[in-house]
Amino acid sequence: MNHKGHFMLTHAITADSGLEFAAEVRAGLTKAGQKELPSKYLYDDVGSALFEVISVLPQYGLTRADERLLRRHASEIVEQVPGPVAVAELGSGSGKKTRWLLKALCRRQHVSYFPIEISPTALAMCERELGDIDFMSIVGFEREYLDGLVEVAARRREGQNLLVLFLGSTIGNFDRPAAAKFLREVRQILQPKDSLLLGTDLEKPIPQLLAAYDDPLGVTAAFDLNLLARINRELDADFVLEQFEHLARFNPEARSVEMHLRSRRRQSVSIPRAEMTVAFSEGETIWTESSHKYCPEEMSRIASDAGFFCKAQWIDQEWPFAENLFVAE
Ligand code: AVJ
Repeated sequence: MNHKGHFMLTHAITADSGLEFAAEVRAGLTKAGQKELPSKYLYDDVGSALFEVISVLPQYGLTRADERLLRRHASEIVEQVPGPVAVAELGSGSGKKTRWLLKALCRRQHVSYFPIEISPTALAMCERELGDIDFMSIVGFEREYLDGLVEVAARRREGQNLLVLFLGSTIGNFDRPAAAKFLREVRQILQPKDSLLLGTDLEKPIPQLLAAYDDPLGVTAAFDLNLLARINRELDADFVLEQFEHLARFNPEARSVEMHLRSRRRQSVSIPRAEMTVAFSEGETIWTESSHKYCPEEMSRIASDAGFFCKAQWIDQEWPFAENLFVAE
């Protein structure tokens, strides 16, 4: 039985010090050509809370599709995973959708669950959400994905396989070459028979995609603009949020939805803790996030390019989305 006593949080050095944030803001905003900011910084406490709201918006079907698949097919998925396993989850978020899988696994074996999260708030939420599951222990890692995975892999017991969860189409934030590289890096930490359950959002009509990333309530706009508010809070900058607007566009070459913040006029902004001022022309944008979309047929190739094979795939019909089960070869 799992009691609160087993609840253990490995609080380590946080992945991103303020210094790293300042350096990355500086690098992204001084880049020649398209200015950009790394999307991982969207997820501070405010951003993570706004994303929770996005995930229940009628226009944003992604999270519900992911949850539906995991709920409906939990036992089938678990049957296909070579066991016994310990579970590592990359970016657990609130942990809500993982419950179904973990419960199905716990019917078969005692489970050690290792959520890996850069957001301490999300990690705490996930531990609260899932702490009541019987026959399961949770040890959270406040780490970047690969660093956390290396640590989890080092804790595996003899004869135990790892099941890595990378749900919610977080992989979509990487461009295709970076996603391929990331999957190879994951594979290198794993051993044959370890598996990776990868959630990928699928291509759908462009108007539907754009509505999902530019909702009429303006929640996604607030989520995006919070990045500037965060730079104001943490780096003492003087972004005037009203002078920027959120914009979603489809990039057909990359097959991704891009989020940008567009400067409504010519302006300059000072960011003391990044030791810089930055000038914007009217209409110039900061590229803040990409969300790549996949087709079901490309997943086998993506798996084999990274040293896995795609053993099974579950697709939601209502909001095209796929759970792909990759097994390490
Ligand atoms: C959490 C990365 C899957 O790309 O759809 C939602 C983030 N950004 N709305 C996505 C997001 C704007 C989301 N992921």
